[in-house]
Amino acid sequence: MAPVPESAARVFGDGLEGAERFAALLERHGVERGLIGPREVDRLWDRHLLNSAVIGERIPHGARVVDVGSGAGLPGIPLAIARPDLHLMLVEPMARRVDWLDEVIEELDLDVSVLRGRAEEKAIRAEIGTVDVVTARAVAPLAKLAGWCLPLLREGGMMLALKGASARDEVARDMSAVARVGGGEPTVSECGVDLLETPTTVVIVERIRPQASAQQRRRRSAVGVRSKRTG
Ligand SMILES: C[S@@+](CC[C@H](N)C(=O)[O-])C[C@H]1O[C@@H](n2cnc3c(N)ncnc32)[C@H](O)[C@@H]1O
Repeated sequence: MAPVPESAARVFGDGLEGAERFAALLERHGVERGLIGPREVDRLWDRHLLNSAVIGERIPHGARVVDVGSGAGLPGIPLAIARPDLHLMLVEPMARRVDWLDEVIEELDLDVSVLRGRAEEKAIRAEIGTVDVVTARAVAPLAKLAGWCLPLLREGGMMLALKGASARDEVARDMSAVARVGGGEPTVSECGVDLLETPTTVVIVERIRPQASAQQRRRRSAVGVRSKRTG
């Protein structure tokens, strides 16, 4: 079993035992069920559990949170363990991963729901409505992720995209695409600075206005064409 780092008690508090049980489940079944690579087993705590849970620093008390593309349950499960005040929903399209998430939630007795589907699907959007925070780790490039996640947020809500070293390059490349789907200027923030050897890099995007419907976009561009003609 991978040793539990000292910082785990500070991050998970009363949830430490639950975090240890989640680590043990991932260690026992994660590779055989195709959830994590074999090299990840020795670095479950730093690279996965703690790296996920520290983003709680950016999430207000009692927030409604959707984790898009949860896969093995990251960052959603560690977040639920460290922050029982949050209302969490995990969205995942792959049946065998949904089964895994359901099993973990039952085993750890967590108050978390799982939706099977893709974040951009109409039925999933209808089921979720809008929430305060959407998280995603290793799911898609920033532009695509913003198109999927921002419609799930209320105005003023935040998308937290866990990114690695590519964060600043992705922001520079994709910021106009993010603005087109209703996002504010992305900022890059480090979480767990005093806790982790490698803090978690998070790209934060606020939803500043609703995404225009296809009809509204067509109408706007028609008005643009007309005013160019008359201008
Ligand atoms: C590389 S895995 C990352 C899983 C987990 N977030 C992690 O960090 O270990 C990407 C996950 O995103 C899911 N996914 C891909 N496209 C998605 C979409 N449009 N909506 C929701 N989930 C999606 C995949 O099924 C997969 O489980």
